Amino acid sequence: MDFDAARAILRGNDLGTYTVPTKGLYPFQWNWDSAFTALGWLTFEEGRAWKEAQAMFSGQWDNGMVPHILFHGPSDSYFPGPGIWGAESGIPSSTISQPPVWATAITLMLQRSSASSAARAAVRDLLPQLIDYHLWWYRDRDLDNTGLVESYHPWESGMDNSPAWDAPLARVPRVEWGYQRRDLNHVDQAQRPSDAEYDRYLHLIELNRQHRFEPRRVAPASPYRVIDIGTVAILQRATHDLINLCREFGQEESVPELEAELVRTGKAARRCWSGEYRCFLNWDKISDAPLREHTTAALLPLFGHLADAGQAGEMASLTEQWLAASEFSLASTHPRSPFYEPQRYWRGPVWLHVNWMIADGLRAYGYTELADRIKQESRKCIMAAGGYYEYFNSETGKGCGGANFSWTAAVALFWFQAG
Ligand code: DGY
Repeated sequence: MDFDAARAILRGNDLGTYTVPTKGLYPFQWNWDSAFTALGWLTFEEGRAWKEAQAMFSGQWDNGMVPHILFHGPSDSYFPGPGIWGAESGIPSSTISQPPVWATAITLMLQRSSASSAARAAVRDLLPQLIDYHLWWYRDRDLDNTGLVESYHPWESGMDNSPAWDAPLARVPRVEWGYQRRDLNHVDQAQRPSDAEYDRYLHLIELNRQHRFEPRRVAPASPYRVIDIGTVAILQRATHDLINLCREFGQEESVPELEAELVRTGKAARRCWSGEYRCFLNWDKISDAPLREHTTAALLPLFGHLADAGQAGEMASLTEQWLAASEFSLASTHPRSPFYEPQRYWRGPVWLHVNWMIADGLRAYGYTELADRIKQESRKCIMAAGGYYEYFNSETGKGCGGANFSWTAAVALFWFQAG
């Protein structure tokens, strides 16, 4: 594998303090992209990795939220821009967040850093912001302290058009005003969400703006309220890592509250377990029912250490069957689903950062061979596609979405190269 090419991608997408996921299609800083990308930077330019984190947290809102997009500078190659989101203060940004992988990324960055005194100083500075970010999730995305954070927009899950969101999204009205999608200037429509989905994404952005981004006003008004089990799992893992950072850096006063959240989520997640599906399921808050769909979010509780040994065994055997169901794996939607589309964004293609999290979870539960198989399958995608694409067709391995993609290059550096 050409790791020089992977490094060149990060350098090419580097705008000084932050890295764009790919030029044109995504010309700003994205939250979870940036966390994985920082892990890639760390393998060859440590100082740059910490800068990436600092740039992301420079856009943190006063209430603790770290937005999913920071519009650091102008660009007309992306829609919807800051005017549509309507946030008014600080760095122009979107008004929702994204799966909170940062505390885990920072933990790994610290462990893998050779310049440890600089790394420790960076962590010390970032720690209060990380704590505020996690407390924001528990306060503003779990209004009734259920232990399961929810979201009011599919983009907050990062898995925008997952078939798991089809039913809740169908309840959302379509906007009636005209607009021009810019993503289709860069990527074939067959690999992107539909216009009907975009109309509804925009409605939810509008609703959030009308209610001044106040979850206590948004939640009762929103036709879309979903518990994304992927976000729940990533938050759980990241809170566990954050507690360790707090202990290591003398911030013990935050530990009891964070620990109480860990326990609450650990218990509440049991409700999402499905013996029939052999995994945890996403949940629709409005109909109060599970969203019965095998998407890779359903396997992320392994990364969050939310499964007991028996559940992990069931999930491991499900994963084996899932791996066998397409030539390139893990397909983001199980190939046996009627909604599976091997090249359409989150409806089937393979995403390497998700594969890394699932493999990491399997390894923690002792399924080392299976974790290695996922790693092999992930390498195979890059080799078949001949490059570091945003995602990969799960039947052919063909590169899909944006080319020269930061998180895919980063995953190759921190997973395949560094081990
Ligand atoms: C997009 O624009 O497709 C992004 O996924 C939103 O975060």
